[in-house]
Amino acid sequence: MSYSSSYMLYIILILLLYLGESQRNSTLSLGSSLTAADNDISWYSPSGDFAFGFQNVNDQFLLSIWYDKIPDKTVVWFVNDGTAVSSGSKVQLTADRGLVLGDFQGTELWSSEPFSGTVSSVVFNDTGNFMIFGSNSTLLWDSFSNPTDTLLPTQTMELGGTLFSRHTETNFTKGRFQLRFLNNGNLVLNARNILTNNAYASYYTKNTFDDAISQGYQVRFTTTGYVNIVRRNGTIVELTTNRAISSTGYYHRVTLNFDGVLVQYYHPKAFTGTSVWTAVWQIPDNICNNVEVPGSGACGFNSVCSLDDSRRPDCRCPESYSLLDPNDKHGSCKPNFTQSCDDYSCNEDLYDILELTDTDWPLSDYEELKPISVLECRRQCLVDCFCAVAVYRGETCWKKKVPLANGRKDRSLNGKAFLKIRKGDPRRSNPSAGDIPNYQEKKDTSSLFLVGCVLLGSSVFVNLILIAVACFGFLYRKRTTNFQPASSSVETNVHRFTSSELVEATNGFEEELGRGSFGIVYKGKIHMASTVIVAVKKIDRLLQDGAKEFQTEVNVIAQTHHKNLVRLVGYCKEGEHRLLVYEYMVNGTLAELIFGSVKPSWTVRNHIALGIAKGLAYLHEECSTSIIHCDIKPQNILLDGYYNARISDFGLAKLMMLDQSRTNTGIKGTKGYVAPEWFRNTPITVKFDVYSFGVLLLETICCRRSVEDPEFGDKAILTDWVWDCFQEGRIVDLVKSDEDILSEWGKVEIFVKVGLWCVEEDPSLRPTMRQMLEGVVNVSDPPCPSPFF
Ligand SMILES: *[C@@H]1O[C@H](CO)[C@@H](O)[C@H](O)[C@H]1NC(C)=O
Ligand SMILES: *[C@@H]1O[C@H](CO)[C@@H](O)[C@H](O)[C@H]1NC(C)=O
Repeated sequence: MSYSSSYMLYIILILLLYLGESQRNSTLSLGSSLTAADNDISWYSPSGDFAFGFQNVNDQFLLSIWYDKIPDKTVVWFVNDGTAVSSGSKVQLTADRGLVLGDFQGTELWSSEPFSGTVSSVVFNDTGNFMIFGSNSTLLWDSFSNPTDTLLPTQTMELGGTLFSRHTETNFTKGRFQLRFLNNGNLVLNARNILTNNAYASYYTKNTFDDAISQGYQVRFTTTGYVNIVRRNGTIVELTTNRAISSTGYYHRVTLNFDGVLVQYYHPKAFTGTSVWTAVWQIPDNICNNVEVPGSGACGFNSVCSLDDSRRPDCRCPESYSLLDPNDKHGSCKPNFTQSCDDYSCNEDLYDILELTDTDWPLSDYEELKPISVLECRRQCLVDCFCAVAVYRGETCWKKKVPLANGRKDRSLNGKAFLKIRKGDPRRSNPSAGDIPNYQEKKDTSSLFLVGCVLLGSSVFVNLILIAVACFGFLYRKRTTNFQPASSSVETNVHRFTSSELVEATNGFEEELGRGSFGIVYKGKIHMASTVIVAVKKIDRLLQDGAKEFQTEVNVIAQTHHKNLVRLVGYCKEGEHRLLVYEYMVNGTLAELIFGSVKPSWTVRNHIALGIAKGLAYLHEECSTSIIHCDIKPQNILLDGYYNARISDFGLAKLMMLDQSRTNTGIKGTKGYVAPEWFRNTPITVKFDVYSFGVLLLETICCRRSVEDPEFGDKAILTDWVWDCFQEGRIVDLVKSDEDILSEWGKVEIFVKVGLWCVEEDPSLRPTMRQMLEGVVNVSDPPCPSPFF
C-alpha cells in the first residue's frame, strides 16, 4: 500500500467516524471535507445556531453559512462570489491553504484567501464566524473578515470594508449595490457598474469624516444588537436609532439587500411557526428617490420604482414595456416596439399616448419646452420620433428618450407623464409579472368577476320594458339625471375647423359612413401634421341654446383619452353647424362584426368585450368628470385596425339631455339596451351603462341581436333566453356553433354570469365596470334578472 492511498484511507476512516458519531462537531479536523449533495451534511457551530455547508440554490449548491434553526435557513455568508457549484463539488480543510473548494473533477474553484501559515485549529464559533488559526492561536483567516452581504453581531468592518448586494433574492452573485466604509471614515451606499465595478455617486452617506481625530474608523455590530460607527476619539455614532432588541431571545443581522436597501433585522429564536425576520431600521428611507448619474436608478432602465408596504422598491415595467430578463424583476425593461424615425410622418397613426400620473424619469430629458399647455406637451411627444415619454409639470414639458433612468412613481411628483406606446401592441394585454397594474388591467383573460346578492323572479319584465319604451316616451321629461357639472377647463388641443374646411375634407359630405343617434357620419381626409382619415359627425339634433354647452362638452370630450375610446380630432361650430371630427376606424362597428354573416372568433369577441369594459370603466371612474354614456350598443362600438374596441359618441348624451324634450333626441335609450330605471323616477347612474353593457356582452357571446323577430319564439328576447339556458344548465346552446370555444369553456360561463349580473333589474345588484375588470370577487350565480313574473 502506497503512502498516499493509506493516507486516503485514513481520511475516509476519520470522515466515517466523524459522520457516524455526530454532525454537530465544531472541532473540525484537518482533511475534513464536505461534498455538495442533497443529503444535507454540514458543519455546525456548538449551539447549532449556524451551519456551514452546501445549501441547495436552484438545484445547485452554494457553499455558505446560514442560520440553521429557522425554517428559511437564512444565508449570512457565502463563497465563490456567490456562484453556486454543481453536485459532487467538494470543500476540504487543508493544512497549508485553509478551505479549498473544487468541482467534482478536482478543479479548484475557490479557496480561503488571503492565507499564509499552517493550520493548527479551526473554530466555527456560535457568533457565526468560521475561524482558522495557526500556531500560537494566530488568526489566519475568518469569515467575518471577508463579509458578503451581511453583518452579524460581534462582527466589525474596518476602513475600506465593503458589502455587496446579491444579484437577486436567489442569485447570490454580486449585484448592483455596495455598502462601503470609505478610508476617510464615511459610510456610504452606492450603486456600481457591474462590469467595471466603478462606483456611482452614493445615495446615502453617514458622514463621520470631520477631522483626523474624530474620524470614524470602525463599524461595529454589538452583541446587544446596536450597529454603530466608532470614531478615533472613542465617541460612537449610532446607526440603530430604535431601542435594541434582546440578543438572547433573538437572532440579528444587517443585510444589504439585493434591491439596495440596508436593513437591520431580528428574528425570534423560539420558532413559533410564523416568525419571520422583522426590520429594526433601514436606509435609505426611500430608495426610489435615489438619484444617480449615470446608472439606471434603484430599478433597471425604463422601469418605474415605487415603495411597497415595507418600504422596499417595487420595480415595474410601464405598459408596452417588458422585462429584459424575466427572472430579474428589478432589472431593466425593454420597449415592446422600436420607434423609427423613418416613418415619423405617420407617428400619430402608429403611436398612442398613455397618461401616467405621478410618474417621472428625472435626468433623461433631451428637451425642455416652456411655457406650453399640457395638451401640446402630449402632442409634441406623439409627433416627435425621438420622444419616448414627456413629463409635464407646472408649465414645463420635458421630453425624454430611452433608455429612461431613475423611473419612479410617487404622489409628491405631482405631474403627468405621457408615455408613447405603439398602437395595437399585442403584448400589452399579456403583461409580464413586472408590469404596472395601475396603468392597465391585470389579466386580460378570465377576470370578469363578482358580487353576490339574491333576488328571484322571471323574465317577462324585459318584455314590459320594451313595450314601455315604445309607448311611454313622454315620461322621459319627468326624469332627472345626476350628471355632474362639466369641467370648466377649456384647455384642449382639438382643432377647430371651419365648415368650409370640413366640406372640403368630406368632398361635400359625399361618403356616408353611418347614421348615429345624433346625425350622419361622413368619411373625410384632413391635412394636419400628416394626412389623417377622419369620420365627421354632423350633429343635426342640437338645440339652439346648446351653443355654449357644445363648447363645454367638446372640451370634456377632448380631454378624455383612452385606448378604448374613439379620439376626437376636432370640431366645428359655425352658425347653425355643429360637427365633430373623430379618428376613422377601419374595421367598422361591432354590430357589423357580430351580426354579420361570418362569425368572428371567440378570441376576437373576448378581446373586444374586455376593451369595451375598460373603456367604460375609464369613462365612469377615471375621468375628471364621470361620464355616463347612455347609449351603449354595438353600433356605437367601433373597431380599429387591431380589432380593439373603441367606444364612440361618449360625452354626447349630456349635450342632448340639456333639453327637456328628450323624446326629440337620440337619447331615449335604444330598444333592447335600456335599463328599467329609465322608466322610473330614479336618477340615472353609471349602472345604466352597466345594464346596456350586459346586453351587449350577451350579444357578443351569442353573436345575435338582443331582440329578434317574434318568430324566434322563446328566444326572441336575448336576456330571457340566456337566463333560461343558464338556469337549465344549457349554456352550450348559446354558443353551439363555435368550434374554438371549447377550450375557453370556463370563460364563456363567467361571461354569461357577468352578463346576467349586469342586466339585473335592481341597479345596486349590478357590478361596476371596475369590479368586473379587477376580478377581485368570484363570480357567483346570478339571480333572475327581473323580479316580476
Ligand atoms: C466565540 O464567540 C464567543 C461569543 O459567543 C466569544 O466569547 C469567543 O471569544 C469566541 N471564540 C473565539 C475563539 O474567538
Ligand atoms: C446570476 O446572475 C448573473 C448575472 O446576471 C448571471 O450571469 C448568472 O447566470 C445568474 N445565475 C443564476 C444561477 O441564475
